[in-house]
Amino acid sequence: MPPVPNLTSTGNVGKWTKAQFFATLRTGKTPSGHQIDNENMPWKMTAQYSDKELASLYQYFQSIR
Ligand code: HEM
Repeated sequence: MPPVPNLTSTGNVGKWTKAQFFATLRTGKTPSGHQIDNENMPWKMTAQYSDKELASLYQYFQSIR
């Protein structure tokens, strides 16, 4: 399994726009083009989250360091 990434404002994910964050958690493909394996990171689960749920996660991760 790859190392669990830093999702906070100080990490790589902290540089993503909200649209990029939504796209990654719905398609499993990151802005750099890396396809996440659903066996390592359950993106098929996050793909089912509502806009409001993903926006809440994005706002929270942006708020922490
Ligand atoms: C609400 C739940 C979750 C959210 C919002 C979330 C979010 C993310 C995001 C945004 C990434 C991409 C980071 C990057 O490429 O820099 C990621 C990757 C990853 N996540 Fe999650 N995650 C969740 C649940 C989980 C769970 C339950 C696990 C493990 C059991 C997990 C393990 C991983 C791993 C191993 C990666 C790296 C995958 C790779 O690089 O191929 N995540 N996660």
